[in-house]
Amino acid sequence: METFKNSILTGDCLDVLKQFQADSVDMVLTSPPYDNLRTYKGFKFPFEEIASELFRVVKTGGVVVWVVSDATIEGTETGTSFKHALHFKSIGFNIHDTMIFRKRNPIPQIYRKRYNNEFEFMFVFSKGQVKTHNPIMVDCLHAGLELNGTTYKNYSKHEQKREKMAAPVKAQKIKGNIWEYVVGKNLEDQEAKGHPAPFPCELARDHIKSWSNEGDIVLDPMCGSGTTCKVAKELGRNFIGIDISQEYCDIAKKRTGLIEAEPTGKQLRLDSLLTEAVDN
Ligand SMILES: C[S@@+](CC[C@H](N)C(=O)[O-])C[C@H]1O[C@@H](n2cnc3c(N)ncnc32)[C@H](O)[C@@H]1O
Repeated sequence: METFKNSILTGDCLDVLKQFQADSVDMVLTSPPYDNLRTYKGFKFPFEEIASELFRVVKTGGVVVWVVSDATIEGTETGTSFKHALHFKSIGFNIHDTMIFRKRNPIPQIYRKRYNNEFEFMFVFSKGQVKTHNPIMVDCLHAGLELNGTTYKNYSKHEQKREKMAAPVKAQKIKGNIWEYVVGKNLEDQEAKGHPAPFPCELARDHIKSWSNEGDIVLDPMCGSGTTCKVAKELGRNFIGIDISQEYCDIAKKRTGLIEAEPTGKQLRLDSLLTEAVDN
């Protein structure tokens, strides 16, 4: 794997993955193309074969984070997200967690007797029991309070009774599995402007911190603008990015410092400040 570490590889990920050793990758974070929603350069997406290769290259205990959604075609959602999840399960992965990526600035949609779509799934598939979880903690709403009336229902016993368990509420708890991000507005995300569908760096940061440790190998087999790779590098992980498009690989190489990036300049900074001001 040494030859592939910390590089962006241009090609069909199915061909490239076949060159990797089995059980060699600690974590995968990716968002696949789905439902022909966008025409990426050189689009080719043999989903089931790619899923099998991912199962082969991921280490036991490693995870695949799969960020995906559904198109609505002729009045119905395609169900692609669920089909993908069930296929990953059928080939041996656990569906470890079904998480939600909620967009704080969703694209407004034409009213078609349905609510505005504002989320994507972030499925966490694991090969066996998850070996690394560094949970993100958040403050408890009632930290330190003695809630005398607090009762907990014990569903694990046959007898369904409530027990009084008054204790000061802890300062922190493990974050829930709905994560919210602003899409495309932060300066670090604007580096990816040449790509039609990058996910936020902050999303990559939260997942990479959660499911890997420093020195681990983090792979994005459809890396687009290289968001996963840029953040993996920043966090002291080894990265491998693959994309079928040379143009997107060039953006990814710039974002990971493999080739020189043009100076971002004042205009970019001004753009992002203006869009943030519009949002607030
Ligand atoms: C949703 S985008 C990924 C965006 C990425 N997460 C980012 O932050 O920029 C999906 C990517 O898959 C790439 N792709 C499609 N088929 C592929 C294949 N068979 N092998 C490698 N990459 C592929 C497309 O070129 C596109 O960049």
